[in-house]
Amino acid sequence: MERTFLMIKPDGVQRGLMGRIISRFEDKGFKLIGGKFLIPTEEQAKRHYAEHEGKVFYGELIDFITSGPVFAMVWEGDDVITLSRTLMGKTKVTEALPGTIRGDFAAHTPFNLIHGSDAPESAEREIANFFTPDELSVYEKNISVWL
Ligand code: TYD
Ligand code: MG
Repeated sequence: MERTFLMIKPDGVQRGLMGRIISRFEDKGFKLIGGKFLIPTEEQAKRHYAEHEGKVFYGELIDFITSGPVFAMVWEGDDVITLSRTLMGKTKVTEALPGTIRGDFAAHTPFNLIHGSDAPESAEREIANFFTPDELSVYEKNISVWL
């Protein structure tokens, strides 16, 4: 069972797309085990995007991600890292296909609505940058109780 860090970026919050974005991951059958609404600090944003330091888009990216509240989440499921990125669509909105979150809703890079970890190592690091272990809920998903 894999975990990933997903974050609805300030544009997704401002545009009122949180519910629709979260629905896509619920619809796919993944399990939400942690969620937090916060404005990332400069330090947190720089740790999160450390791999991009020095690139031309880095400054704008840090300014954007610290510009307002985000919804940070931890999701669990088989292959959730790869499958989440498939649901999200390509990074550049000009390449994101219809049917994906970015393809359906985003029109200007870097305002592409959502972040998702790209590997198990980055997922672990990104989760630790936003959550303490006790903020994650370990539970069984058992919908037959309600039906
Ligand atoms: P990256 O980690 O490459 O993409 P992803 O979010 O799909 O993992 O880049 C991080 C963010 O930086 C990306 O979501 C948007 C922004 N960005 C640009 O503005 N221009 C670019 O050319 C790239 C590659 C990213
Ligand atoms: Mg990335």
